[in-house]
Amino acid sequence: MNPIDRQKQAAGTAAALEIRDGMTVGLGTGSTAAHFVAALAQRAQAEGLDLRCVSTSKATAEQAEGLGLTVVPLDDVDSIDITVDGADEIGPGLSLIKGGGAALLREKLVWESSRRCIVIADAAKVVATLGAFPLPVEVVAFGHAATARRIRDAVLRLGLAVEPRLRTRDGFPVQTDSGQLIYDLACGALPDPSALAGALKSITGVIDHGLFLGLADEALVGGINGVARLVREGLSSPGRA
Ligand code: A5P
Repeated sequence: MNPIDRQKQAAGTAAALEIRDGMTVGLGTGSTAAHFVAALAQRAQAEGLDLRCVSTSKATAEQAEGLGLTVVPLDDVDSIDITVDGADEIGPGLSLIKGGGAALLREKLVWESSRRCIVIADAAKVVATLGAFPLPVEVVAFGHAATARRIRDAVLRLGLAVEPRLRTRDGFPVQTDSGQLIYDLACGALPDPSALAGALKSITGVIDHGLFLGLADEALVGGINGVARLVREGLSSPGRA
């Protein structure tokens, strides 16, 4: 395991310790979240924890079920006690860019149903300003190129010149678990993430974007000296009522 992966694993393992018997747990997507799922499954088995999990992707659901965790649909739960998920960037105030794994829509649906959200990451994900990581935007497949042009124009009105890039793999457009497409916006430093989030959401054809603002309650960040806990400013203690 390389040093970055070790940091991700340390963060995932620390997050698994936050889970209590009887909880409904949101499972994130990506390599860091996979470490959390593995650590959670290990704890659940060793301690006989009775857990229900809601997954943010088909890939994570497969991993979790393969490790013996019970995965239920989001529609079957009233609320989720804790969701643990990775991020592509962690900026000021625990603002995030997510969606590098194309799961941003299901991730946001699960996060918004959660009483407490913990983001887990290696130290390189913590940045002073969001935007070096291209912002993923999920769009409806019908008319997606036209939607991309409207995204370009809307973003330009905010002073950011960027050509949205359709995400492909092996020469084919990447399809999300919901059958839609992803455009990546290499904007560079984002001076006003909230304005950008609002502008993107107002475009017909845009389903959602990878800006997660005001959603993460805390971060567990693996580094060379162990795992640091960051709590969102304004929260006296972790968690939402
Ligand atoms: C999935 O769509 C993403 O939001 C991931 O959580 C994010 O890309 C982080 O992935 P890694 O943990 O693999 O870096």
